[in-house]
Amino acid sequence: MNIAVIYSSKTGNTRKVAEAIHASLPDGTALHDVANAPESTNYDLVFMGFWVDKGTANLEAQEYMKQLNGQRIALFATLGAYPDSDHAKQCLTSVADFVSTCTVADSFICQGAIDPKLIEWMKTLPADDPHGPNDDRRKLWADAESHPDETDLANAINWASGVLDLAKEPQA
Ligand SMILES: Cc1cc2nc3c(=O)[nH]c(=O)nc-3n(C[C@H](O)[C@H](O)[C@H](O)COP(=O)(O)O)c2cc1C
Repeated sequence: MNIAVIYSSKTGNTRKVAEAIHASLPDGTALHDVANAPESTNYDLVFMGFWVDKGTANLEAQEYMKQLNGQRIALFATLGAYPDSDHAKQCLTSVADFVSTCTVADSFICQGAIDPKLIEWMKTLPADDPHGPNDDRRKLWADAESHPDETDLANAINWASGVLDLAKEPQA
């Protein structure tokens, strides 16, 4: 089985998750940034990683996902919000349209530190703005700062191992 881990990452969070997943997968598994990833037709199973940009996958990841055709894929992502939030669930759901020809085996999402420049900008917004500073949001930004952490990476590896086991089972 030809397997690839393809990811897009602006500030390194998703790359960390991608590298941890890749290191746990069988020898010969490819690892590529979307910016220089080869055609997806080479692969039977694609672990596709993106960072959440305004509620959905970042554009570069979207572009790669749209040219996937019929493969089995597993989605992983990082975002600033809490991974068990409705927002996180919606972000994963929103990606379905970009991979409509594929079988999505499973998905994984964890928090990732938010670019400090973005936080500085959000601090300048009125407190009642949807992204403006309030106690909950300041806590969220601070909580995100240490992610992805060792637990996130261990969870990602565990998740990838389950995806791989499923992919090895005979297809119905
Ligand atoms: C322009 C921009 C938009 C973002 N939009 C969201 C968002 O809609 N929801 C969210 O939870 N996090 C959002 N984030 C936070 C990132 O998804 C998060 O920090 C992610 O871990 C960045 O991944 P990377 O380091 O791989 O680039 C945004 C960050 C940036 C810079």
